[in-house]
Amino acid sequence: MMNLLRCLALALCLQLLASRGTAQVAPLVANINARQTTSLDGQWQAIVDPYDVGALDYRAQPLKNNHAFYKNYKPQSESELVEYDFDTSGQLYVPGDWNTQRESLLFYEGSVWYKRSFDYTKSPKNRLFLHFGACNYLAAVYLNGEELGGHEGGFTPFDFEITDRVKPRGNFLVLRINDTRGKDQVPTVNTDWWNYGGITRPVTLLEVPETFVQDYFVQLEKGSTHQIKGWLQLNGPKLQQNVIIRIPEAGLSKTIQTDSKGRAEFSFSADLTLWSPENPKLYTVEIASETDQVTERIGFRSIDVRGAKILLNGKPVFLRGISIHEEAPTRPGRTWSEDDARTLLSWAKELGCNFVRLAHYPHNEAMLRMADQMGVMVWAEVPVYWTIQWENPQTLHNAENQLKEMIARDHNRAALIIYSVANETPISDARNSFLRQLVQDAHSADPTRLVSAALQAHEVVDRGRITIHIDDPIASDLDVLGNNEYIGWYVRHAEDADSIDWISAYDKPLIMSEFGGDALFGYHGGTAARWTEEYQENLYQHQIAMLKRIPFLRGMTPWILKDFRSPRRTLPRLQDFFNRKGLVSDHGEKKKAFFVLQKFYRELQSARPPE
Ligand code: GCU
Repeated sequence: MMNLLRCLALALCLQLLASRGTAQVAPLVANINARQTTSLDGQWQAIVDPYDVGALDYRAQPLKNNHAFYKNYKPQSESELVEYDFDTSGQLYVPGDWNTQRESLLFYEGSVWYKRSFDYTKSPKNRLFLHFGACNYLAAVYLNGEELGGHEGGFTPFDFEITDRVKPRGNFLVLRINDTRGKDQVPTVNTDWWNYGGITRPVTLLEVPETFVQDYFVQLEKGSTHQIKGWLQLNGPKLQQNVIIRIPEAGLSKTIQTDSKGRAEFSFSADLTLWSPENPKLYTVEIASETDQVTERIGFRSIDVRGAKILLNGKPVFLRGISIHEEAPTRPGRTWSEDDARTLLSWAKELGCNFVRLAHYPHNEAMLRMADQMGVMVWAEVPVYWTIQWENPQTLHNAENQLKEMIARDHNRAALIIYSVANETPISDARNSFLRQLVQDAHSADPTRLVSAALQAHEVVDRGRITIHIDDPIASDLDVLGNNEYIGWYVRHAEDADSIDWISAYDKPLIMSEFGGDALFGYHGGTAARWTEEYQENLYQHQIAMLKRIPFLRGMTPWILKDFRSPRRTLPRLQDFFNRKGLVSDHGEKKKAFFVLQKFYRELQSARPPE
């Protein structure tokens, strides 16, 4: 029954997408927080609808009449039958996952309807957009009883233009969010993280002039530390305009002309203080067209590879990192806020990090902007995780779309240096061509950043000597290689790392994108006693000794900063649906291994970077 409902729900959403076409999802408006905005966050009315009765009749046909929940219909007489009522159905906080807001919804996967009423008086001639930071997983959006469109993917932003649809008073916005997992989705049905459902990031109304600056890319040209190269895109009737790009602090002001499509490409030299973790310099960049003005905070740095080196601003760098899931630091559930971003990145900095891997999906924009401010380089990833339907063109289109949306939102963030297109995916021809397409998409959307993936090397034992070989065919397409290994936890003993050598078939930098083991904070015992802090501490000591011996290692992001919820972790008293590989517990308590890694990173910080 659930599978039938999931197909119908997906069909309904795709029909919605198809009926109005994803074209209905307007081009992403950049940097919305620099705009005239109205937040729609807060308590929303919500109806939990496990059988999708708000969308489908008993023959599973899409509802179009007043029984459809998006109509938000009220009985007109005492005898009229209406079997739903948002206003007496309870509330859920937006932004937020529904799972941690009600005990009864912790394991819930399915549909939830949200309703928010609002009044809005728009300035004449201006345009109005409705922006969503993210909704997990399928979103169908309705305004005043009319469909606006839909979106698939739980971790990227989307918006709709509602200029001609909004009324001064009594608007009602209704969303149907469905997070039922599906084999053809991205991610697919199996993940080691909680499937948090809901409107998980802020919802915002933004008002812009008739012709406005919709997006821009202002970064240093690939391989340069003094040439700015970029583009900008206007949106509206008056596309050919003069646009001034100003960087007042650098005494820069450039006038460019947009073409008949509203696009302009530009390149000019600039004498700038380069962004780096040691000095995360951000400049105010003003983009002023004849009809619009937007201000942005941008850092300028170059990131490149040369052989097995990673070069930041032309100098070799070692990426002292940690992996992070997008969960709030000291409470269960998804996070979206600046404060939480600051807390998580402060813990990473306390560890001695200059780098974080935001796993396994695009994290919220506040995290990327905070990384810019705090000087923490970022690995960002799309949830092409484990065994995706490689042969399914719809699945590829979906993955490409999520990658495109992630890049569109964050392509002006200096902190963001690596796009990762996959995690632990089984080698096959179909998989290789799927990932190859994503690598090409990333490079063409943004030629300035590096592309990677978290691979899984294989072991060779020859007369007792253990060597691990990185020879995944997709590595030839990547700029930087990522590799996940769990020596001492899923394979072998921690001490075996002491005699393991690594061999790469590629003259490329390696980031050990995952290693680690579980420990319950406060649970103590011998170094061979699993789940104890001593076991994890010992594992880290042997891992670090092994990693130091890998000549082409240029970074690492141990798994993971903080214990996180996972439906795959059922062991009572020790896991209780948490993956316990954090160096910090889910209550913010630091485990012994935290200090082992901190000590190593401090050593690296005081040592000369690897030549
Ligand atoms: C995998 C995977 C993670 C997972 C981790 C673990 O490598 O990439 O998502 O949480 O291993 O098993 O703890």
